[in-house]
Amino acid sequence: MEFGNGNGTGTDNCNCNGNGIRNGNGIGNGNGNGNEKVKGANVIKMKPMDSELLREQGHIMVDFIADYYRDLQDSPQDFPVLSQVQPGYLRDMLPNSAPDQPESLNELLDDVTKKIMPGITHWQSPSYFAYYASSTSVAGFLGEMLNAGLSVVGFTWQTSPAATELEIIVLDWLAKLLQLPDHFLSTGHGGGVIQGTGCEAVLVVVLAARDRILKQVGKTVLPQLVVYASDQTHSSFRKACLIGGIHEDNIRLLRTDSSTNYGLLPESLEEAISHDLAKGFIPFFICATVGTTSSAAVDPLVPLGKIAKKYGIWMHVDAAYAGNACICPEYRKFIDGVENADSFNMNAHKWLFANQTCSPLWVKVSEKDAVVNYKDWQISLSRRFRSLKLWMVLRLYGSENLRNFIREHVNLAKQFEDYVTQDPHFEVVTTRYFSLVCFRLVPVDGDEDKCNQRNRELLAAINSTGKIFISHTALSGQFILRFAVGAPLTEEKHGRLYKNMPLNLPATAIVKNILKETVEN
Ligand SMILES: Cc1ncc(COP(=O)(O)O)c(C=O)c1O
Repeated sequence: MEFGNGNGTGTDNCNCNGNGIRNGNGIGNGNGNGNEKVKGANVIKMKPMDSELLREQGHIMVDFIADYYRDLQDSPQDFPVLSQVQPGYLRDMLPNSAPDQPESLNELLDDVTKKIMPGITHWQSPSYFAYYASSTSVAGFLGEMLNAGLSVVGFTWQTSPAATELEIIVLDWLAKLLQLPDHFLSTGHGGGVIQGTGCEAVLVVVLAARDRILKQVGKTVLPQLVVYASDQTHSSFRKACLIGGIHEDNIRLLRTDSSTNYGLLPESLEEAISHDLAKGFIPFFICATVGTTSSAAVDPLVPLGKIAKKYGIWMHVDAAYAGNACICPEYRKFIDGVENADSFNMNAHKWLFANQTCSPLWVKVSEKDAVVNYKDWQISLSRRFRSLKLWMVLRLYGSENLRNFIREHVNLAKQFEDYVTQDPHFEVVTTRYFSLVCFRLVPVDGDEDKCNQRNRELLAAINSTGKIFISHTALSGQFILRFAVGAPLTEEKHGRLYKNMPLNLPATAIVKNILKETVEN
């Protein structure tokens, strides 16, 4: 796909006239001394990238962020994990229009502390166990800094050869850690590209697969194209199909249930394909998921891949969350069968410490030019130098540490699961494969409606404490609680990074107490 013509960096993006800073004050002095507002006469021409100012204010900002991470651990009472503000809270706290004159960094950071922080849900809190994590690390943070500092736009090879070449190399490294088949390696018949998000990754492959089938059978067949996935598949798949012109009625979300732990039954797929073929539809795409958003269910790639091959269907594997665990040999089995896939993606910003956003996608490529021009592998033209942070994460930690960290998160989830299992008030509702535990209060006298209501109330009670944040999902009509481990501080808090660590008891104890209180009242 090609969405641009190489002239996409935009026009002049800086109109500095009328703005400015005053020497030593305003934004030029982040430590807040002499913080008076700059008046027109004193304004000097703005220097948006003054190296000394960057040095001074960069240090202040790093200190601010480092203090945040320290305080998240040391003063959790000041940081309710789930923000407790009401909608619209910020409107009354900020002016109606942007300032004419510069303000100081100190003033701004003061506002961050007093006005922005209350509206932050602390995804980096050690007591964050809600949606899949947004994992950060010092290495990822430094990579983001370097990326922001260099700020290149590597849409073609020549716009920054290092940006393209490092991305190819780092994605080969990661593909090897995941033991992906040769056809996803740049040295084989494929290659990797870092998309911003999982949503972008699935959109790109749906469009590529659609174009492939339209080329094969003719462009008029668009209304006959059908796609398949389980009913547990992330909503981005449906969105991608709709953007790609696939009619809503032609998106088959096949039913799953507890008998397969919410994984897609191959027989359901084959039956749906046969049915569609008999009616004149053209099956062209299946999205299999390893680690669904709702319950970390796993679709069986081996049989699904065989079916895809038999019918000439593009199979994509969405392993946004669980793909990260597959760098550990003991979890690699969950992507066995990826050998038959046409594309595979995972979100390194979920569980591989590559700060948002970083979604590596690998595809089989039929024709390759001498150089890769990544603008043709994604939706937008402009692109960030994201491989820097992944490279830094891989180099500064090493794969053995990354594997151990993931294992520790899984252990933590297992210990939480054990606790839930031992308490007769609760049940674990799906088989846990990774670091997500799906559980609920059990029904009393078989009353499922009442049970759903009690679990809803329990969730609200837990999250309103601000001490811990968990989320929920629905499975087979049941209201289920999700406890997902993945925030990096969940271990750092105890200073045992990269070593076997005991359970983060404070977090678990909080849930236990709240659960007990709720059950007993
Ligand atoms: C299985 C799965 N696929 C796709 C996505 C979407 O990823 P992103 O938020 O990066 O677009 C998610 C997000 O949680 C997910 O869990």
